[in-house]
Amino acid sequence: MEKKRIFLTRRLHDFALKELKEKYHVEVHSGKIPIPKSKLRSKIKDIDGLICFPYDRIDSELIETAKNLKVISTYSVGFDHIDTRCAKKNKIRVGYTPEVLTDATADLAFSLMTDILRRVSEGDRIIRSGRWTVIYGAYDYVGWDLQGKTLGIFGLGRIGSTLAKRANAFDMKIIYHNRKPIPKSMEKKLNVRYATFDKLISNSDIISIHVPHTEHTDKLFDKKIFAKMKRTAFLVNTARGKIINEKDLVEALKKKTIAGAALDVFEKEPIDKNHPLTKLQNVVLAPHIGSSTEETRTKMAQLTVKNLNLGINGKKPIYSVGY
Ligand code: DGY
Repeated sequence: MEKKRIFLTRRLHDFALKELKEKYHVEVHSGKIPIPKSKLRSKIKDIDGLICFPYDRIDSELIETAKNLKVISTYSVGFDHIDTRCAKKNKIRVGYTPEVLTDATADLAFSLMTDILRRVSEGDRIIRSGRWTVIYGAYDYVGWDLQGKTLGIFGLGRIGSTLAKRANAFDMKIIYHNRKPIPKSMEKKLNVRYATFDKLISNSDIISIHVPHTEHTDKLFDKKIFAKMKRTAFLVNTARGKIINEKDLVEALKKKTIAGAALDVFEKEPIDKNHPLTKLQNVVLAPHIGSSTEETRTKMAQLTVKNLNLGINGKKPIYSVGY
């Protein structure tokens, strides 16, 4: 029997490719990243399975072209880059990779928060540029304690809850906002208090974003929100860049409407070295590394392959969007 055909928009780990090649006819895109849409359009027509990445836009036009496609397996927890409604309509399964990256992403959010409050990256920049010339002044490079600060978690799902556990160990106060409060027993266990969105914005010393990018969260954090935050507050984003209006954020940081931001995700990635955010000292920038640890990326690749294997055989992936 002829092998099923799969296409990867980029290399995965060698062990994953080996397994895939044993089962399928595999083609991997090499060259420009993200793959140009025209190339993806020409590939998607005939394949049974697609492995993609969070920057690949798998829109309805592409999906409608795919006549044999059974599964789209994304190497990410986010699936806002896939038109999942259109996939469902065409009976195409969509697999994604939650759970395995929860700890790594919560760790990064916590690290970014610590970094921006204690000015670690800023200190590194000061040293590397030869500006550390006098030792240990009373007012030099002072940051802020985490202890006693109110952390506002916007989106207390898997990653948000794990961040709450980290923050409890540092004696922070934790408030959260979800569409609906979590059960009281969970609130107690996580030592968190529900807040309305407005209260979360106005009462937090640090806001950490953990919601998906949807039509409801698109550019939600804009100048109106920044104006309601404390002037001493920090914003941390490890979710999706498009949840923040970046232009407004740059303005707010320049005018000190808020104290600082630590960002792992951006409206358009990668950002250029001359992006306005790179010119600001009250900002920490990371190159979208929320899930990027050896252990987590390995587990993500394993799960991506498992999801593909199931979907291509008409079964529900381990983690499946809506169908
Ligand atoms: C995801 O999995 O969606 C993350 O953004 C990758 O770090």
